[in-house]
Amino acid sequence: MNEFTFSYPTKVYFGKNAAAKNLPQELAKAGKNVMLAYGGGSIKRNGIYDEITEILKNAGKTIIEFSGIMSNPTYAKVQEGAQIARDNKVDFILAVGGGSVSDCCKIVAVQAVTEEDIWEMEFTEHKFPAKALPMGVVVTASGTGSEQNNGAVITNEEKNIKAGVLGAYADFAMLDPEYTMSVPMKQVISGAFDTLSHAMETYFGKPQQTFISDEISEAVMRNTIRNIRKVVKNPEDVFARSELMWDSAMAENGILKIGKVTDFQAHQIEHQLGAYTDCNHGQGLAVIHPVLYRHIYTEGVEKFARFAKEVWGISEENKTQKELALAGVEALADFIKEIGLPTTLKEMGITDKEMLRKVAESSNITAGCCKKLNADEIYEILIECL
Ligand code: NZQ
Ligand code: ZN
Repeated sequence: MNEFTFSYPTKVYFGKNAAAKNLPQELAKAGKNVMLAYGGGSIKRNGIYDEITEILKNAGKTIIEFSGIMSNPTYAKVQEGAQIARDNKVDFILAVGGGSVSDCCKIVAVQAVTEEDIWEMEFTEHKFPAKALPMGVVVTASGTGSEQNNGAVITNEEKNIKAGVLGAYADFAMLDPEYTMSVPMKQVISGAFDTLSHAMETYFGKPQQTFISDEISEAVMRNTIRNIRKVVKNPEDVFARSELMWDSAMAENGILKIGKVTDFQAHQIEHQLGAYTDCNHGQGLAVIHPVLYRHIYTEGVEKFARFAKEVWGISEENKTQKELALAGVEALADFIKEIGLPTTLKEMGITDKEMLRKVAESSNITAGCCKKLNADEIYEILIECL
């Protein structure tokens, strides 16, 4: 196995009433001024806002609101949050939402305590922030696993780039599956597909040789697929939603990535598609994945064949390894159709070929998987996605 260092600073509280039971003791360690950060208002409609503000008030905190964090959060929104934090001498950030709220806060936490521009610091000077405001996350929509790590995906509208920025780790994450019951089914499915994508993009990283991290990935992928099917059949299935919530965490808490150089090529392409179109992340991935894998599977036949057998349960009888490998990719494509995710960019309202050329030319190219692409190949893939 490759050598690795593994540390995981976030304390996870999982289960029904996770916030009511555990937030008071966590808040006792925080300063007086707490920034309550949230999105477009779903928490006001489903009662989570009332529950959390009550806990904050009982803990004697002064609440400073930072609201309106949009899906695919922008760098301008990060700056707005950092300014609010500075102006109000915020001691602690409590992010209540999905991946977008959590991501935005992870960068607000580091931007609030430095005069330097975080984007320039990371992408021009290649330096990474050393200090941050402490923060915690109450997860209301799972899929990204954002609460598990210090990477945040931020759209810099001026530069037309959506990229991973390193920020703060949450001190704690509250994962209450009941909180996800009001998430619209479209988002539940695209979020859960994002989890599957994270596991796949890790699995198809290097080394291709299968070892313990990959075997855990296979379990996470099978479990995610099974439970997506269950929630599609019965959206009220709390057990399935709780499994998906933990799958989401498992795919991004670093355990599957131990000893691996991850691929994440589909993500790199999707993020740039998001920079140009503001599309839904999981939906973009659903369109890109099968087309990308049809382009590369012949360069990694053995691993793709194992994926077919172990994840999709496809028999190897009467098949060459190459046929088995392709059958796995087609099983993934069929699954995407079965669960109602889009299968073409047109279905997502994306048709502009010139824009797709820009997406291809600005997408990061990773060396993680079996074949390193170039911008022309990425353009070809995007055109096939139409
Ligand atoms: O904004 P509100 O009103 O809260 O509504 C949100 C939003 O419209 C709604 N929602 C959340 N919890 C809800 C709820 N609606 C009803 N009931 C609830 N309990 O769901 C919608 C989507 O939320 P959002 O946070 O945008 O979705 P998601 O969690 O999928 O996050 C997407 C963002 O995360 C990034 C994506 O690129 C995208 O920007 N990612 C972050 C990653 C990371 N940090 O590790 C990894 C991923 O690969 C991904 O790139
Ligand atoms: Zn993702």
